[in-house]
Amino acid sequence: MADINTKPAEADYVRIFDTTLRDGEQSPGCTMNVEEKINIARQLERLNVDIIEAGFAASSPGDFESVRRVADSVKGPRVLSLSRTREEDVDQALRAVDKAHSPGIHIFIATSEIHMKYKLNMTREDVLDAATWAVTRARKSLDYIEFSCEDASRSDWDFMAKICAEVVRAGATVINLPDTTGHALPEEFGRMFSYLREHVPGSDKVIWSAHCHNDLGLAVANSLAAVKNGARQVECTINGIGERAGNCSMEEVVMAMRTRHDLMGIQSRVNTRQIYPASRLLSQVIGQPVPANKPIVGDNAFAHEAGIHQDGVLKYKLTYEIMKPEDIGIPSNKLVLGKHSGRHAFADRLRHLGVDTNSTDLNKAFVEFKALCDKKKIIYDDDILALVTEEARRTTDHYELVDLRVSSASGSLPHAQVALRVDGDEQRAEAVGDGMVDACYKAIYKIVGLQPALERYAVKAITGGTDALGEVSCLLRENGMTVAGAGAHSDIVMASALALVNALNRLKGRTAMPLKPTMDVP
Ligand code: KIV
Ligand code: ZN
Repeated sequence: MADINTKPAEADYVRIFDTTLRDGEQSPGCTMNVEEKINIARQLERLNVDIIEAGFAASSPGDFESVRRVADSVKGPRVLSLSRTREEDVDQALRAVDKAHSPGIHIFIATSEIHMKYKLNMTREDVLDAATWAVTRARKSLDYIEFSCEDASRSDWDFMAKICAEVVRAGATVINLPDTTGHALPEEFGRMFSYLREHVPGSDKVIWSAHCHNDLGLAVANSLAAVKNGARQVECTINGIGERAGNCSMEEVVMAMRTRHDLMGIQSRVNTRQIYPASRLLSQVIGQPVPANKPIVGDNAFAHEAGIHQDGVLKYKLTYEIMKPEDIGIPSNKLVLGKHSGRHAFADRLRHLGVDTNSTDLNKAFVEFKALCDKKKIIYDDDILALVTEEARRTTDHYELVDLRVSSASGSLPHAQVALRVDGDEQRAEAVGDGMVDACYKAIYKIVGLQPALERYAVKAITGGTDALGEVSCLLRENGMTVAGAGAHSDIVMASALALVNALNRLKGRTAMPLKPTMDVP
């Protein structure tokens, strides 16, 4: 077993606990299938995160399978499953991680009066007993146990001290204090860590961890305040995805500790050059574009528009830049390949972008790349990434777009003819609509026999120019379920059709799988 529990003082760095695959995946439009989760987990391994929370094994057979497969696929990071304090949860979580190189379990129960009374209908004593029971049970099989006081930031500090003391005595090795509702302010959140570390016997034997949500935009600030007050683990997600306003963003907290090492005096072991590839990969997988003004990884994060800024940066970069784009893995020259590039250079570029070339059909991707070169003079990294993830999206499909013809003329309604392969069987439909995309979507709905609500539709030119590859992302809602889809193509209507077909495939995948039971997932 690594020295993470036994010698915390000697290993003074901040552990990065990535919950993109659990808390992140839980938010609307961020669901991923097993293969996608494995893809992200491998990138997290390249990032050198310490811990991957791979899912909530007891919540559904699909989640159980994902945790198991992720546990099987990575060697570097520890792999954990979330678990409530119930017997069936603990046992499922233990089973799901039993093949992991470094397994762990994350047991949680709410400790705030509001959650205990209205959600759990349990007394303080019930909660104390349930927590101690679950940790004791898990400790019989595993020596890495994280315990979380859900809604810690709204819980009574003395009650939390009591419960933490009991679970530490029962064998918990990490104590996590979440700001579940994103309600805390940095100063008070920091004080809570100080107080508990002072009042919990044995507190120096465990790692203290912060888990912050971003409802007030303070998740990173609160996490840093916790670190300042002794936390040595931060729970976060790539691009800050997560419930409501999201979780603490991995790239922001990691780069804040690194950039302000002068004040923080401590940082993580993340390989920061893998941050940008991780951000792009996740964005492609869940079909959610990264906002341009997102710190660290947004398109504008290093763009200087104002003349006075440009002038300063040209004279001396540090006048306006506090970080180097290359330290985050942002390629200094995004113009990479063209018509004459060979297979080798293509594969090399993919690896640099964090794509697992062993699990990508390289031949197929290379053919697509050459086809794109014929349509587009300049190929950028984002074009390539979009292209291979588009390829990955298509490989496991129930519906496949075979043909699309659209026509539009002034004075007549736009018209679309679509051919889809449905489970190997080609089906055609046509429709008119308010615009070409609308006509195309109506034709596709006719074939699949569904009329889901289109909750979001966004088009982004991946790179500049009128011949740019366009990326469309959409969010569908059907029977209370939301699924995201994304598609990339040099023709926007085609990209729109691919995005819809991608979302419909995900919908199909999720309805074929038993749904998550309704439960109190934080
Ligand atoms: O936000 C929260 O409280 C959680 C816990 C399960 C750690 O996600
Ligand atoms: Zn959370």
